[in-house]
Amino acid sequence: MKNIFELSNQDYVRFYSFNQDKIIWEAHCQWFTKAIHNPNILFYILETDTKECIGQIRLQCTEYSSWEISISLFQQFHNQHIVSRALKQIIEQHHSLNFLATVREDNISSIHLFEALNFQKTQTTTINNKNFYLYQYTIKNK
Ligand SMILES: CC(C)(COP(=O)(O)OP(=O)(O)OC[C@H]1O[C@@H](n2cnc3c(N)ncnc32)[C@H](O)[C@@H]1OP(=O)(O)O)[C@@H](O)C(=O)NCCC(=O)NCCS
Repeated sequence: MKNIFELSNQDYVRFYSFNQDKIIWEAHCQWFTKAIHNPNILFYILETDTKECIGQIRLQCTEYSSWEISISLFQQFHNQHIVSRALKQIIEQHHSLNFLATVREDNISSIHLFEALNFQKTQTTTINNKNFYLYQYTIKNK
């Protein structure tokens, strides 16, 4: 729980989030406990062979039966294709599901990541005065 708290509060993670405020520990504990017990959330913690937490991938089922992806990785593990390999496996395991991701327009690594996995950019939306792209991955993309 503490690793995910630290990761979620990294400046670059807050920067690309909808809400850029820092997260307080008590709110994180409540959120995390609910999230890991929520059947509408698939919560993956990425670890090294020695069980060091390096990141997280979360899928939350939306009201439209698509699974919204949220990912973050500690900075020292960036640009090694760890997330793209993990996400590819998750998509293959859940091949009958539809996925979506909302990515800030200046989030270059996430845009590369989702486009390389054949997500299609379908819409632009503004959240808290920032522009985001909506990426979708449906059975048609497969
Ligand atoms: C999103 C995030 C998990 C990606 O992690 P990552 O380890 O860099 O991802 P990968 O290495 O698997 O893929 C990143 C791709 O972006 C490319 N990339 C990264 N930085 C880049 C840059 N500045 N310019 C161009 N391409 C860039 C990489 O080369 C790679 O592309 P490739 O597969 O064609 O080589 C990480 O950046 C992160 O934690 N960001 C903060 C949280 C966030 O933005 N989450 C997304 C919201 S859903």
